[in-house]
Amino acid sequence: MQHKTAHGPRTAGRVLHGARWYDLFGTVISFGRVRALREKLIELAAPAPGEHVLDVGCGTGTLAIAVKRRVGAGVVHGIDASPEMVQVAKQKSAKDGSDIDFRVALIEAIPFPDASFDLVTSSLMLHHLPDDLKAKGLREIRRVLKPGGRFMAMDFAAQSHSPFGCGRPLGHLRSILGHARGERMVDALTPLLRAAGFSAVEAIPTRHKNFAFIRAR
Ligand SMILES: C[S@@+](CC[C@H](N)C(=O)[O-])C[C@H]1O[C@@H](n2cnc3c(N)ncnc32)[C@H](O)[C@@H]1O
Repeated sequence: MQHKTAHGPRTAGRVLHGARWYDLFGTVISFGRVRALREKLIELAAPAPGEHVLDVGCGTGTLAIAVKRRVGAGVVHGIDASPEMVQVAKQKSAKDGSDIDFRVALIEAIPFPDASFDLVTSSLMLHHLPDDLKAKGLREIRRVLKPGGRFMAMDFAAQSHSPFGCGRPLGHLRSILGHARGERMVDALTPLLRAAGFSAVEAIPTRHKNFAFIRAR
């Protein structure tokens, strides 16, 4: 199935349009955990001053704005398929005074040359993609990473195709309430990451049992 807005690009990923309420909804539905998870992602990704970073599926830009504070004079870009999300991200970074390039663009066609980034991040994004698009998106991430560059993702711990599966509203609720089930994200992503050209794939233990972190180089 293809998703599209009047002015957004066509993708088989699940695009979110309710940007105005997204941050509030995310905070409420996760009982405030999403903020802590993004902070943990940044700690694990360890963005360093001067680095070039891309956040894919950046949503309203919260993670990219936090990363920019870490990289200082480094360069941060955020891409999302949703024009509404990108518009809110631009407004938030302008208010924050952070110079970040937010663009409407797709993970399956990242608009940057090969070997552009030291770090690519993705938060709660990969579960929005069907498997073939995950594979394509991960190949694109490997392409735009410099040799030795790192990819750091955070997402739901389990993938499921049930009506309660991750990526569906009831799946989010189920996962947050502690009933995540199905294939472990790490198990599902590891072969895709290896096929995309990543050699070191690491699952990172976390006390948040319904969420998983994965790092790859
Ligand atoms: C659950 S949101 C996560 C947003 C943000 N990373 C966060 O942590 O709040 C997933 C995002 O992926 C975006 N998305 C879906 N398919 C995409 C694609 N093919 N390329 C880029 N972004 C996509 C959606 O529009 C949505 O903003």
